[in-house]
Amino acid sequence: METVALTNFASMIQIAQSCWEMLLLQQQIVSDVALVTVSSRVHARTDAQWYASSREFRSYMRSKQLNLDAYGTDKIRMGYLDAYDPILAPWLDKDIKLLELGVYKGHSLELWRDYFPRSMVLGIDLQLPDGFVSGERIKLFRGNQADTQFLSEVADKTAPDGFDIIIDDASHIGQLTKTAFWHLFDNHLKQGGLYAIEDWGTGYLDDFPDGKKFDSKPSTSDPFPCHSHGMVGFVKELVDEQGAASIAMGCKAGWRLSKFQNLVVTPGIVFVTKATRTVTGHSNPVSTGSV
Ligand SMILES: C[S@@+](CC[C@H](N)C(=O)[O-])C[C@H]1O[C@@H](n2cnc3c(N)ncnc32)[C@H](O)[C@@H]1O
Repeated sequence: METVALTNFASMIQIAQSCWEMLLLQQQIVSDVALVTVSSRVHARTDAQWYASSREFRSYMRSKQLNLDAYGTDKIRMGYLDAYDPILAPWLDKDIKLLELGVYKGHSLELWRDYFPRSMVLGIDLQLPDGFVSGERIKLFRGNQADTQFLSEVADKTAPDGFDIIIDDASHIGQLTKTAFWHLFDNHLKQGGLYAIEDWGTGYLDDFPDGKKFDSKPSTSDPFPCHSHGMVGFVKELVDEQGAASIAMGCKAGWRLSKFQNLVVTPGIVFVTKATRTVTGHSNPVSTGSV
């Protein structure tokens, strides 16, 4: 009995070591977000499966298969693709509709077109890039991200069944981002779809229109002191939506679950996945707002 127990114990240590080594290896090649996904599988797999899944995992890192020098978007310089890669993996080879708010010179649209070979990529901006040749799989529309009627017109024309992925890289101003988010999320994002909000840290910048320098206060009081300027305030409201079920606890009518499957906050991007169930009942914990 003891020998068996010891052998089991030794093999458990061996598996634990291999898992740990694999985690360290993964750490070198993937972002923190990917690690969360990967580490949740640690206990369910043998090490042989682990090595296989690591190879499989690396093949999902689509940006590693593209010549990134060909695209002039600052998403590459900012390291954003390390965060995007693992999160976008489920959509890679699907027929998808992707909408990006804020296109500047159009380079990120070219990146997304090549990243998702079967996609249709739609872009909107206050100003459309001069001389941009969009080709068959990219379409551009001129308008404001906070103009909900305009957003619906674009959506009805290009994605009547809803977008699979929406990326907001436009104003980075809290109220405008919030208006676009709730309108598109509620009305034009498919169930299970992904909404990415870039550069939410502008809310910590003194020289951004609605940002403010972070003022560190001792965090001993209740309520905790809370920086809530611009995009940072909006992102904190998203946490309230994720807490919808707890917020509504004890309310007689309209109890409901969060509209979000996941809310993932990375240093540069917030990712929200839409729940696959239909949410009815109570309205948003926080008003959806308008400008
Ligand atoms: C950071 S750039 C986009 C960069 C582009 N996504 C890329 O990766 O190359 C921001 C763009 O958002 C646009 N923009 C700013 N405010 C906007 C608004 N309220 N509605 C729509 N577009 C806006 C600007 O004109 C600018 O082209």
